[in-house]
Amino acid sequence: MPIDWDQRYAQRVQRIKGSAIRELLKLTEMPGAISLAGGLPAAEIFPLEQIQAATQRILAQRGQQALQYGATEGYTPLRDLLAQRMTAEGVKVTRENILITSGSQQGLDLLGKLLVNPGEPWLVESPTYMGALQAFNPYGPEYVAVRSDHEGIVTSELEVALQRHPRGMYVLPSFQNPSGVTFTLERRQQLIELAGRYNVPVIEDDPYSQLRFEGEPLPALLALEHARQQEKGSGDQIYQGNVILLNTFSKVLTPGLRVAWIVAPAEVIRKLTLIKQGADLHTATFNQMIAYELTREGFLEEHVPVIRALYRERRNAMLAALEEYFPDTISWTRPQGGLFLWVTLPEGLDAAQLLRDALEYRIAFVPGAAFHANGGGANTMRLSFSNVNAEQIEEGIRRLGKLLHNRMLHS
Ligand SMILES: Cc1ncc(COP(=O)(O)O)c(C=O)c1O
Repeated sequence: MPIDWDQRYAQRVQRIKGSAIRELLKLTEMPGAISLAGGLPAAEIFPLEQIQAATQRILAQRGQQALQYGATEGYTPLRDLLAQRMTAEGVKVTRENILITSGSQQGLDLLGKLLVNPGEPWLVESPTYMGALQAFNPYGPEYVAVRSDHEGIVTSELEVALQRHPRGMYVLPSFQNPSGVTFTLERRQQLIELAGRYNVPVIEDDPYSQLRFEGEPLPALLALEHARQQEKGSGDQIYQGNVILLNTFSKVLTPGLRVAWIVAPAEVIRKLTLIKQGADLHTATFNQMIAYELTREGFLEEHVPVIRALYRERRNAMLAALEEYFPDTISWTRPQGGLFLWVTLPEGLDAAQLLRDALEYRIAFVPGAAFHANGGGANTMRLSFSNVNAEQIEEGIRRLGKLLHNRMLHS
């Protein structure tokens, strides 16, 4: 008799389940469909020529090293370069504070393994990045979800949540996936003050802050935490704070390289390195070298403005189309950067149900419920503007608007 595999799976994976939405979204590959669902970067501006040139150079100059096993911590010149850049921006770190990971997604898994205990409180925003929930779920947290508004996490509610002594918190302060919201400076400062007072580790996931297309840049939580530590201590110390930062090349270069990094106090990096060794030994050396070559040459300073300009145009196209085609009982966020915006439908309108109808009109989005750790958000949805051109955006929103008008007429 064949094994009943469901009975064999370990307890930690019981919470990992496929979803009907995931299956439905596969249908977006059909011809003529417009997908505002996936959070993919725009592939047409991937720097193929520069990557090709870097690849050839690496093979010619350091081919054997590129194709050999490497250190778990990551390619030393890349760690040094990232550390120098952060130090130049005011947060004093060395390579001992940096672990290269196979995407930030791996960083989330490693941090889940490091910090989350089964059945103990773990704080997230509501909504939050679905992929983080997927990474943390196997470690069995009891989620405490704190609401965000247009200024970011609501710090008065955060303080109440901290009284439950969570083992840690996971936040996305800049151009959040899924909502597009950015924490104001005041909220950032309040969060750092609260996390310090309650002595709670903070995971700051930051794939998007470089992709700001309007407004003034804001300091990372890690930078604020560093400044707080400097004030308390004797100044000019190497980073020792409560905040652990996740950063990635995925949105500023290409996601297919799978190169990202974690910044944390050196003792945390040492422990994470041991965990990573058990996961994949190290991130692909070749890919790290490509990321290193392009960063070292200053290519990102040229390339990131190109990405920003394209996403700005697409965000504008989406905002204009929403204004024109959506019923006025519907509201949405106006992100100043990133890849997404967030739509709130009238109470009682179920976005998952709407998706089924939308697919008939060959248009897709991600219903918002899956971004909520503890339920809710059925009347919300995420729209992505990064991987569709302005015409597709206008046509997609027109179709969705028509569907929504019909829906609201008949409800
Ligand atoms: C908030 C957030 N964190 C992490 C990731 C994963 O990024 P990476 O490609 O570095 O694994 C994503 C990807 O979309 C994301 O939106």
